[in-house]
Amino acid sequence: MNFRLSEEHEMIRKMVRDFARNEVAPSAAERDENEEFDRGIFKKMAGLGLTGIPWPEEYGGIGSDYLAYCIAVEELSRVCASTGVTLSAHTSLAGWPIYKFGSEEQKQKYLKPMALGEKIGAYGLTEPGSGSDAGGMKTTARLEGDHYVLNGSKIFITNGGVAHIYIVFALTDPANRHKGTTAFIIEADFPGFSVGKKEKKLGIRSSPTTEIIFEDCQVPKENVLGQEGEGFKIAMMTLDGGRNGIAAQAVGIAQGALDAAVEYAKGRHQFGKPIAAQQGVGFKLADMATQIEASRLLTYQAAWLESEGLPYGKESAMSKLMAGDTAMKVTTDAVQIFGGYGYTKDYPVERFMRDAKITQIYEGTQEIQRLVISRMLTK
Ligand code: CAA
Repeated sequence: MNFRLSEEHEMIRKMVRDFARNEVAPSAAERDENEEFDRGIFKKMAGLGLTGIPWPEEYGGIGSDYLAYCIAVEELSRVCASTGVTLSAHTSLAGWPIYKFGSEEQKQKYLKPMALGEKIGAYGLTEPGSGSDAGGMKTTARLEGDHYVLNGSKIFITNGGVAHIYIVFALTDPANRHKGTTAFIIEADFPGFSVGKKEKKLGIRSSPTTEIIFEDCQVPKENVLGQEGEGFKIAMMTLDGGRNGIAAQAVGIAQGALDAAVEYAKGRHQFGKPIAAQQGVGFKLADMATQIEASRLLTYQAAWLESEGLPYGKESAMSKLMAGDTAMKVTTDAVQIFGGYGYTKDYPVERFMRDAKITQIYEGTQEIQRLVISRMLTK
């Protein structure tokens, strides 16, 4: 057993860390304040190969693995969780199902431009009436000649409105629920597709979250992803990996908050010494660092399992559960260490705390992770 990262992984970490510090961090607070998505940052990520980390070069990727991808999401989220989730949704929610289930033609047409960063990807599963109960979706797809006609809507779509390609799930056989669900690749300019309400959010405010609407949306038959009726399984398998991307995001947020808290605690003096030297603060920092390290190890383990082609669904749910709770706890403690200053926008810890909350909710709430883990333990 070897816990040392390979040279390639260390190199990717250093490259993304430098990029995050120099190109992402300086505008993070302002983009959060203005709820502003920055396509320029996405383009720069593409220039570094970050938009296609795990995909082979023939599909525009850099031929690395899921661990490298998690490290990239972590380092981006350490300064800006919105940028982290932009890459995460693009890679694991949109790119992955095309890579795993797409035809060669679909990979060339959709995965390649996404990996090269020419197109942005998104994923649409959740509906107004079906969140945790994903199988309760209502969006339908009716075959008419050589097209499917989609009707319905999806909500809480990360990269909504800025994405060019959406992986969407709809009922082709409504009586059959799970086995009547089909996955589709939707282009943003297909007739009948539109972007609805943009959410105003507590955190990850520079990552757009929107509704997407299908009104007799015309989707060519060849845009079915996988087989008709296979969609629910594709949605679930996609989330298995996606959840680990969110774990990486949560680790990054927590690490960013710890970095800030350590710096502050060393420089802030009360009662004649740095607050880091007060046991109440020092022990808090120790707990924060320990929880982050445990979360990181679980996250890297799940990424390694996936890269090795081994089962990773349970471990990915565990990493998301652990890292999401860690991010929430650590960022709350960081605000506490900063005291009154932490509650202001003069320091980044309040943003980290707001950003952390979503990691306990999206890609399956913490309660759904427990359901997934307990079902796997007992099946
Ligand atoms: N891999 C492969 N197949 C799977 C699977 C998996 N991980 N999970 C379930 N399946 C299969 C089952 O084997 C079963 O197949 P059979 O009928 O052939 O036996 C079928 O799918 C139905 O499975 P369940 O009976 O377990 O389904 P369920 O209705 O009980 O739901 C659930 C299971 C885990 C609760 C699921 O509904 C779920 O994950 N809910 C949470 C949804 C979620 O995470 N949403 C997040 C949306 S994305 C997002 O957050 C936005 C973003 O952009 C970041």
